[in-house]
Amino acid sequence: MNSSHIQFCDRKSKIDLKQLQALFQVGAFWAEERKIEDLAVAIANSEPVVSVWDKNKLIGFARATSDGIYRATIWDVVIDPNYRGAGLGRKLVETVLSHPRMSRVERVYLMTTNQQSFYERIGFECNSTTTMVLYSQPSISPLPAQIMESQETLRR
Ligand SMILES: CC(C)(COP(=O)(O)OP(=O)(O)OC[C@H]1O[C@@H](n2cnc3c(N)ncnc32)[C@H](O)[C@@H]1OP(=O)(O)O)[C@@H](O)C(=O)NCCC(=O)NCCS
Repeated sequence: MNSSHIQFCDRKSKIDLKQLQALFQVGAFWAEERKIEDLAVAIANSEPVVSVWDKNKLIGFARATSDGIYRATIWDVVIDPNYRGAGLGRKLVETVLSHPRMSRVERVYLMTTNQQSFYERIGFECNSTTTMVLYSQPSISPLPAQIMESQETLRR
């Protein structure tokens, strides 16, 4: 496939949420059920967010969360099945890694056991030491009084 006309974009405002939902449905088994309004929240709280375009068609997506210096994690890397095997996935991950929020970060994590050899080709290594997880909490207990107080101070 000639991919010279394919464009990469790191503007969040460019993301078409309906197209993103459809891309996840065909290409990302872990994100097939995601709702538009929840995708909007994830995008608002991620940086960078990189999308891949064939004219007006969204054909790839990846995002990261980062503190800019110590730790970052890459999420939701996907290329449309019809466009795979042409080097776009590699360029997508490299575009995420070269963003200013990512390029100085000491450790970049990936929470996936999927497609490991794809990531190994880009330079990632298996890491067995980061294995703990807290699943979403059904009821969040109220904040301790002193934390609420400091949030109030921040708001002022
Ligand atoms: C993983 C994915 C993003 C790769 O995208 P792609 O555009 O096909 O990948 P590329 O063409 O850029 O491949 C880059 C390199 O990885 C290799 N590669 C790609 N997929 C591979 C796989 N499944 N197994 C082994 N190697 C793979 C390619 O051969 C290429 O190697 P090279 O640079 O030595 O030639 C794509 O297959 C995808 O969207 N999969 C479904 C979603 C997913 O599993 N995402 C990852 C988990 S978050």
